[in-house]
Parts: sequence; C-alpha cells; structure tokens
Amino acid sequence: VQNALSDGPLKGKRIVVTSGPTHEPIDPVRYIANRSSGAQGTAIASALRALGADVVFVTGPADVPPPQGVEVIKVETAREMRQAVLDALPADAGVFAAAVADWRVATEATSKIKKTKDGLPTLEFAENPDILAEVSQMTKDRPPLVVGFAAETDDVIANATAKRARKGCDWIVANDVSPATGIMGGSENAVTLISADGSEAWPRMGKDAVARQLADHIAAHLGAD
Ligand code: CTP
Ligand code: CA
Repeated sequence: VQNALSDGPLKGKRIVVTSGPTHEPIDPVRYIANRSSGAQGTAIASALRALGADVVFVTGPADVPPPQGVEVIKVETAREMRQAVLDALPADAGVFAAAVADWRVATEATSKIKKTKDGLPTLEFAENPDILAEVSQMTKDRPPLVVGFAAETDDVIANATAKRARKGCDWIVANDVSPATGIMGGSENAVTLISADGSEAWPRMGKDAVARQLADHIAAHLGAD
C-alpha cells in the first residue's frame, strides 16, 4: 500500500483540505454551527491521499472520523480554522469543503446564560473571516489551485458562478442542498464543477465517487503545470 500511495500522480504534492462545520461558542454550553457531517471533505482528503498527495486535513467537529494517512488538525471555530490553514501554507492546492459558520457571537459569555423572568437574551453577531476568499486573494503563498464549495438552495449555478468570481478561487464545486433533493445529511451528492472556462455537471453519485472524480481533476490539473 505504501508503494502504491507514493507512486500516485499526486506524489510530492501538498494539499490542504478543510472539512466539517465550525462551532462558534455562545457560552460554555451553547454554540452556533452549520449542518455538516464532514463526509464530503473526508472523502476528498481520502481520495487525494489515495493518489499520493500529502494531505493536511483541517477539520471542525465532524460526525465522521478523519481519514487515515493524513495530517489531522482539529479546530472548533472559524478563527482557529483560518489560523490552521495559514500555518499549513504554502501548498500546491487548497480544497475548502468546510461549512464555516458565517457569524460568531460578538462576545462569548464566560458563564452560562440563564433563563430569567425579565425576557429573552439578545445575541450580537460579528462576521467570521472568509478563509477561502482570503487564501484565494493572497499575493504571497497562494496555492496554484484553490477549490471552493457552494452549497445553495436557490439559483444554484448563478449563485455559485458569482461566488467563484467574488472570492477569486479557481474552481467552485456547486451543489443544490434544497430539502427536496435529500442531499443534506445523505451519502450522495450531485455537483457542478465551475471554473473560469465554464461548468460541468456531474451525475448524482456517492460522495466517495464525487471525491475520486474531483481528486482525478486536481491530479490532471497539477500534473499539467
Ligand atoms: N468559506 C470559508 N470561510 C468562511 C465562509 C465560507 O472558507 N467564513 C468557504 C467554504 O468552505 C466554501 C465557500 O467558502 O468553500 C463557500 O461557502 P458559502 O457558505 O457557500 O459562501 P459564503 O460566501 O459564506 O456565502 P453565503 O452567504 O451563501 O453563505
Ligand atoms: Ca456561508
């Protein structure tokens, strides 16, 4: 197995993958998070490793265990994830599959917020750093290939195309997560790969198969440099 891995097309390539949700604390017992099992990011890290890449896997608190054979960096918050990603650079590629919480609570309470008879608590939010946008727009140490994800419920392709341009990543993997698709929380995914050159809709398939196909695309791209 060792030989097979080190002989793959991604041999010697360092790839940073983010995965899972982030948890943003409200108080010691509560947090804000996105829904994310971490399954797609984990499958991608595993597929990249299977092609021989040196994978740095930066993961929030996911439901599924991290893959074997990769460097695992566990984080909780978006700010921790950002720092772990920056520390992992330079790299040949970055794949940003994490469902990062867009907002955190401006001031985390150090004690548990209690119910009172005087009314409901009010939370004030602050915006989290956009890790994908920051890495895409770096002038020094920008990975030659930056891949983002766009989980959308409406106007999927239009939203994802605009998101790719706005953030400045090379590719965006778009998927429709509206409830009717049953994608959220399931084992399958139906994605469209969007680049500056256009878009390519892949048939609905298992998350492992999506991961292998994406890893193959990354290998072809990095190999062609
Ligand atoms: N992302 C990130 N850091 C953030 C938010 C998002 O790195 N703070 C990355 C995600 O990992 C994903 C991509 O950006 O690869 C798109 O995330 P998404 O939530 O779809 O984009 P947003 O810009 O946050 O837009 P939206 O308002 O649709 O949530
Ligand atoms: Ca978001």
